Amino acid sequence: MPEPSDFSTRVKGVIRKNFNESADIYRVFEGRHGFFHAYTVKLAEWAGLAKGNRVLDVGCGNGISCVALSDVYDAKVYGVDLSEVMIADGKQRIGKREIYLFVGDGENLDSLFEDRGFDAVMYNAAIFLFPRPKAAFAQAARMLKPGGIAAFSFYPRVLDAAGGDLVPRAYETIGMTPPKFRTITSWEKAVSSLQDVFGEVRTTTWEMAGSVSFLTDFFTIPAQSASLFPKLPYKERAQKVAQLFSVLKPLESGMTIAWDMAMARLKDTA
Ligand SMILES: C[S@@+](CC[C@H](N)C(=O)[O-])C[C@H]1O[C@@H](n2cnc3c(N)ncnc32)[C@H](O)[C@@H]1O
Repeated sequence: MPEPSDFSTRVKGVIRKNFNESADIYRVFEGRHGFFHAYTVKLAEWAGLAKGNRVLDVGCGNGISCVALSDVYDAKVYGVDLSEVMIADGKQRIGKREIYLFVGDGENLDSLFEDRGFDAVMYNAAIFLFPRPKAAFAQAARMLKPGGIAAFSFYPRVLDAAGGDLVPRAYETIGMTPPKFRTITSWEKAVSSLQDVFGEVRTTTWEMAGSVSFLTDFFTIPAQSASLFPKLPYKERAQKVAQLFSVLKPLESGMTIAWDMAMARLKDTA
């Protein structure tokens, strides 16, 4: 595996810090919306996870996705996350379920797991934070049984009735320029990386009715707000998030939030 660049090491340091600061608000957000649980189940359903599967949940955060996989799929789940605070929070939530949580880098799974043979490696709302998705998927392929599933869900797109991106329009209305990149890795790069490692990739989109209050709550999570206003301290970021989405209130009735997902299967070489 090629050595990670300085950029990649720096990015992971920032992500770890942002999520270390996010655990409390993340928990409140999930309590209000049940969103990450629902997103995990959508991804698992669509990707064809089977009951009782052994799953590696990469970028598992505070274990919401692990608990969803355990409760709905009776899965035995191994979760990995960069943020030690999210993992510690997750350990409080898993109870007696068959869930095992580890602090670690999803681009370097070899250092964590000798015992492979997973049925699925899943990245719920996480891969867009990985600077080297191809390295991550190469590691996933090493963890999977032949025929096993690699699946990820992506960062939200906020769309008007005609499918136009409302976020740049909201920035324009508040007199600001959107950041050049809202994700570390683009959708196109994530999909092509999956394809490079696994071959054929399938994609789909889950569409949800948009709401200003959901978007404000989602992007008020410190780590998510950093994707919109990376240069500001958290308190100002949170104020800007509220301002940014409030200007979309008149467009709310036709608004959609689109959640993209992709999956592939490891070739069965037998
Ligand atoms: C938006 S959260 C999603 C958490 C969880 N999957 C869920 O559905 O609630 C994204 C998580 O990915 C983690 N993450 C980002 N890059 C990572 C990496 N290279 N290795 C492991 N975890 C990573 C972050 O620390 C964060 O907890």
